[in-house]
Formats: sequence, structure tokens, C-alpha cells
Amino acid sequence: MTLIESPVGADVPLSIAADSPNRQLYEKLLKDVPDANVAGRRFLRRQLARAADLPNELPTDAEQVLQWSQTRCAAVAREYAEYLASRQQGAPRRYFHDKSHALYFLQHVAPTKEVDGAWLAGVLKHWRDVRFDGLIDTYLEELGDGVARQNHVVIYRKLLSENACDDPRDLSDEHFLQGAVQLALGHCSDEFLPEVIGYNLGYEQLPLHLLISAYELGELGIDPHYFRLHVTIDNASTGHARKAVQSLLDLMPVGEGRDEFYRRVTLGYRLNDLGIGSTEVIQDFDLHREVVSMLERKALFGQHMHSDYCRVENRTINQWLSTPGQMSGFLAALERKGWIKRGAAPEESRFWKLIEGSDAAMFGVFSGYEKQLLSDWIADGSQDSQRYPRAPRKQAQDEQDEAADPEIDILKLRLADLTPADQLLALIPWLSPRCHWRPAGLYATRRFIQLRAQLR
Ligand SMILES: [Fe+2]
Ligand SMILES: [Fe+2]
Repeated sequence: MTLIESPVGADVPLSIAADSPNRQLYEKLLKDVPDANVAGRRFLRRQLARAADLPNELPTDAEQVLQWSQTRCAAVAREYAEYLASRQQGAPRRYFHDKSHALYFLQHVAPTKEVDGAWLAGVLKHWRDVRFDGLIDTYLEELGDGVARQNHVVIYRKLLSENACDDPRDLSDEHFLQGAVQLALGHCSDEFLPEVIGYNLGYEQLPLHLLISAYELGELGIDPHYFRLHVTIDNASTGHARKAVQSLLDLMPVGEGRDEFYRRVTLGYRLNDLGIGSTEVIQDFDLHREVVSMLERKALFGQHMHSDYCRVENRTINQWLSTPGQMSGFLAALERKGWIKRGAAPEESRFWKLIEGSDAAMFGVFSGYEKQLLSDWIADGSQDSQRYPRAPRKQAQDEQDEAADPEIDILKLRLADLTPADQLLALIPWLSPRCHWRPAGLYATRRFIQLRAQLR
């Protein structure tokens, strides 16, 4: 068998602080460095010990899991109907106060979403074993079956870049925990198969927060496609949730070891509850705190950029910016001096006019997300969601993008000398979380699907 080297991920940041163990492991697993598996295994053991202390909501008998999943899905559908009815009666959004709140959410769950499906990356090698079909099909669907506009990671990456909130610098180490769990399960699935099955069972159940997020993101002019896609694809009747239950039943031993296997499944299921979940990220948001910390970060770069005739309350802008911890006071001074009119449309504030528009003195200084924070902080809830235009629908460009990619040409050349069975094995590294969203990874996914169908 010839293995084709997968590309080195130049996209992964290299300088990670030593006090960020989850983030370090996340990068290690994503880049697949030589000792990644050892570190992943150790990490999983620690996380499983933590998960054992959490309550177990799965039924005691594996045979009841299908019924349990369907009952749970029906309850979520009921709660969502209640939510919609309350919104129609005029209730405010339940999750996102304004657009910057929603963008904060997208940014802070990004480490998890950018490795969507990763917990299943290790099952591809079992493609000849029919019991793995549900897990493999689920993984391939996470990869969009090799079509860029359906690949979950591509969709999420585009969503972040369209909304200019793809900067991971402000995320805490805890925000990388779920992503690290997913990557570690994908790396170590030979040893942790029951835990992979249990994690998959938990992750693929349709949660209420997904439905509400999709609805409210759309209201705020943010494309909800990624979230809506999961509402349909993860459904409990035929979708990923159903496949997750079937995979559990198919892969459980029939005799000895059955109870122990299921016990480990329930532990893997509880790994979903570690770290910071979607609803906690949403609750964590504090607009004032985010605006102040964003300005503190900016101040480092802006402290020598202003001319000294620019003064606010007898201090030059450079003086305001030169000492850390002054941004909250600076904002208050701008308000007192009438540069910022809180509670009014941002366009009415002199400060905003320095930021927004191609003629603005600070044009280009703030990213889209940073401007949204400032705009929402100035408006202070005074404007309704009518001001958010709906997100435009996009055209697909898969084939054009891929035709121009040299990585695909190299891959095709290397596959040319291999038998179909060896090609299939050689393609597997290209379907990893590190590669599958790249044009060559998408090509590899489509080729893997063809060969798998041909060779079975
Ligand atoms: Fe997904
Ligand atoms: Fe899914």
C-alpha cells in the first residue's frame, strides 16, 4: 500500500501560549503531529473520568435508545412550536439581543464547528464492514460528500469570513475543549469505539438551541444555512440521529461484553456536556465588556497613530490609548463630550462617522465584527431588527475553484499507479479534519465514495 502524504496545514496558527493545553492539543491533533495519538489518548482518559461524574440521561437498556431518541426529538419540536408562537405574539428574541451578540456566538463556537464531524474520522478504514455504514455515511455527509457548498466545515468557514469574525485570538482555552474531544475521538477510535458511538449519539440529537439559533440568525441578517442544514440532516426519523442509534445497535457485541460496551457508550455520550456549550456561550456575552476589551486590544496598535491636537477632556487620544485599562473611561468621556449619542442611531454619533464609510478618518481600522460591536453598543437596543438586511443567497462555484488547484493535480498523479483498493486507502488521510475541506480533500472525498461503491 502506498500512502500519499497529505498537505502541511499552513492554515494552523503556530504560536499558542503554553497555558492553553486544550488549544495546544487541538492544534496538535489537527496537524497530526507524530505524538498526537498519545496525547489524544491521555486527554480522552482524563475527560472520560470527568464525564463519569455527570448525570447519565440515556436509558439503562440500549434497546430503548431508539424510543428515547424519538421521544426527545418530539419534545424539542413541541418546545420550538411554543417558542415560535411566543415570537408571533411579540416576545423578543430569546438568544441574541443584537447582531454583535450573534457574531460573538459564531466566533466562540468556531473551534468546535471547524472540526464538525471529526469524531468519526477514524471509522473510514472499516468501509468493508457493513456495521460501520451508518457512521461512515454520517461522516461523509458532514464532508458534504465532497461538494464544497455542502461540506459543513466549508460552510462554517465561509460564514465566519463573510461576517469578519474569524479571528480566534480572543477565545479562551475552554472554547477549544469540545473540538479537542472531537479530534481526539477521531484519532483514537480503534481504542475508544464505544465512546465514539456514544459521543456521536449525543452530538447528532437535534437540540432546541439549534432551531432557535437558526431562526434568530436569519432575523439578524446572518445566513442561517449551517444551522438549518443540521435541523434537516440530523433528524431522528432517517437522518444522523437515526443512523447514530442504528450504529449503536449494529456495533454492540451480541454476547459477552455487551453491558460493558454500553456502559462506555453512555460515558462517550456525556463527553458532549464538557466544556462551554452553545447556550453557555450565548449567556456569556456582555456587550459593554466586549466593546471595552476590543478597544483595549486596538489601543496597543493605535497609541502612536493620532495627532496631538486631538483631545478629549484635556487628554490627547495618544494619552488615552497609551495606558491599559482606560477604554471604559474613554468611552464615558466620549459620551459626556457628545461624540457618542447612546441610544440613538449610530449615524448620529460623530465618533461613528470617524469609523464608518470610505471617507472616514479611521476607515479600515475596525473589522466588520468590531464595527458591529460599536454600532450595537451605541444604538443600545434602540433599533429593531428591521435594520439588518437579509443575507444574500450564494452561487455555487465548486468546479471552477477546484480546476485551478495544483494539489488536486498532484493527488491525481499519485493515485494513477495504484489499484482501486490502494487508492481508497491512500485517500483516507485526505478525508481527515485537516484536509477534507480543501479542494483536494473534496476531490478525494468524491473519489472515495466512488471507489467504496465500486469495491463493495
Ligand atoms: Fe455537521
Ligand atoms: Fe450531523
